[in-house]
Amino acid sequence: MRFATLLMLMVSASWVLADEASIATGKKLYGQTCIACHGANGRGAIPGVADLTKRDGALAKSDDELMKNITKGLQNPGSMLAMPAKGGNPTLSDADVQALLVYLRSEFGS
Ligand code: HEC
Repeated sequence: MRFATLLMLMVSASWVLADEASIATGKKLYGQTCIACHGANGRGAIPGVADLTKRDGALAKSDDELMKNITKGLQNPGSMLAMPAKGGNPTLSDADVQALLVYLRSEFGS
């Protein structure tokens, strides 16, 4: 019983640590690659960029869809500006994009 409780605590603690590591990585990458268009507050630094803080906005989509859209880029119908694949930084790995998504959700998600 005690051992099980300890095990559960350890598992949840490592989840929290993993999340915090992702957020730190995501924040760093966001500052290097995404901030020019999306701005420090996620609302968009230039016209045509999606407001990531909007409730029911882009972050309401599933992780799968957002992973795909960040990785491949996208242009919604009627939108005046396209999001470039990986924000124009081809060196980003899948793990980097995943960390960015964790950061976006923690920083701008509602
Ligand atoms: C050159 C400017 C630019 C850069 C750099 C950029 N974005 Fe975007 N991003 C856009 C634009 C423009 C849109 C909206 C596209 C549309 O709606 O057609 C967008 C949309 C998005 C969306 C919403 C996608 C959806 O499914 O609606 C996410 C999430 C996103 N960007 C994340 C990122 C991340 C993470 C980075 C950095 C790796 C990044 N962006 C870098 C311009 C940029």
